[in-house]
Amino acid sequence: MIKTIILAAGEGTRMKSNRSKVFHKLLGQEMLQYIIDATEETDSKETIIIGGENFDKLTERYSDDDISFVKQNFGEDFPYGTGYAVSLCEEHIEDEDTVLILTGDTPLIRGNTLKKLLDFHKKEHFSATVLTATIEDPTGYGRIVKDDQNMFLKIVEEKDCTKEEKKIKEFNTGMLVVNGKALKSALGDLEVNNEQNEMYLTDIFEILRREGHGIGCFMVKDVNEAYGINSKNQLDFAERIMQERINNYWMTEGVILEQPETIVIGPKVRLSQDVLLTNGTRLLGKTFIDENTKVIGNTIIWDSNIGKNSRITQSHLNEATVGNFVTIGPFAHLRPETVLEDRVHIGNFVEVKNATMKKGSKAGHHAYIGDCEIGERVNIGCGVIFANYDGKNKHFSKIGNDAFIGSNTTIVSPITVEDEGYIAAGSTITEDVPSHALGIARGRQRNIEDWTKR
Ligand code: UD1
Ligand code: CA
Repeated sequence: MIKTIILAAGEGTRMKSNRSKVFHKLLGQEMLQYIIDATEETDSKETIIIGGENFDKLTERYSDDDISFVKQNFGEDFPYGTGYAVSLCEEHIEDEDTVLILTGDTPLIRGNTLKKLLDFHKKEHFSATVLTATIEDPTGYGRIVKDDQNMFLKIVEEKDCTKEEKKIKEFNTGMLVVNGKALKSALGDLEVNNEQNEMYLTDIFEILRREGHGIGCFMVKDVNEAYGINSKNQLDFAERIMQERINNYWMTEGVILEQPETIVIGPKVRLSQDVLLTNGTRLLGKTFIDENTKVIGNTIIWDSNIGKNSRITQSHLNEATVGNFVTIGPFAHLRPETVLEDRVHIGNFVEVKNATMKKGSKAGHHAYIGDCEIGERVNIGCGVIFANYDGKNKHFSKIGNDAFIGSNTTIVSPITVEDEGYIAAGSTITEDVPSHALGIARGRQRNIEDWTKR
């Protein structure tokens, strides 16, 4: 069986952060999630994540039937290093297993590359195969040392390299495949004898080679896939690579991106063809946008579902469901549980929360629409407010089809306005309005003649 170990316990000191390294985000998604997603493209059946300080948070966020967790302790009483970390997983590994070992800080790795690595390892009958890459300046990475015949000898960490070894451009990506039995035996022989006083996982290759095992090197073509993140500068670099990769993908799928370098599309977003995204748009979480919809200038959308032929301008949407031919913004704010059916119009400075607006209803300007159901073809005037909160509880209101809510109305929830009910501008509505009735609730105007002359 193929099993995956993900190393995620390191202290990540170079990040200079209170947050565990693997929880730092690229395009709104945690680094570790990218790696888990990549393993899902392989035939790996089980994942073991090694955590440290972050152990409780890891188990909280990543709990899943196929994932188990191993805790690595730190301090003077314990060794440190990738080799020690993997040795803690021994009881999860059977001799017959094939073990894919990944690090939690290389989120640019593609699932397809891991698949190829596993296939190569199996086809060539190696005991262990390391995923390598080549780069002009491999500073910081472990180097792949080979003999005159180009046969693998060992991996040497940057800090332990001789002058000659430093010149080697092929490096260890930190990702590898090893057979269960070979791994367990090599882990037993690991020692700490290096510059960093760490138990290096990379030493298993030399140990196995000396014992006569076949060792393979599989080189990934796109060196960016191997990019390891140890600092916030590197996080930014990786995010930009991921951004370009995702944006290019969507353009090949028929999405139009204007100024793509300013557009952010999260890895779980789905788009249909002829969607248009313009400058500064950020689409995050599990957002879906259907054909021909235009998302214009500095709009941010999280976890929302948008239909076809709609237009969203300079707005924020969070957990909203939007139909077809809907127009939103500029400067609208749709909050969780908002449902806008087809041909709804939401104009500037309108906030909607936990509310459904049925087909063809409109709220053109300055309104708060919260905790309510609005029927079809309803007009919500400028400045309408649903006073949904009494300081303790939220109350729900219902507006019928073809109702008209005049400007500057306050609906003191809970209220029902029946079909074709009409509310006069400036009313504070505290009682239900029957069908076809005019609801009016405001001080009557009187004019005092010649008042300014006095
Ligand atoms: C490691 C490799 C190096 C390779 C590079 C690729 C070793 C000794 N070196 O170096 O050859 O070129 O990755 O990016 O393996 N971790 C633990 N427990 C520990 C130490 C580390 O879980 O005790 C985890 C970290 O959280 C991290 C991963 O292992 O996810 C790699 O550790 P890191 O310290 O970043 O190794 P590098 O110095 O980058
Ligand atoms: Ca690293």
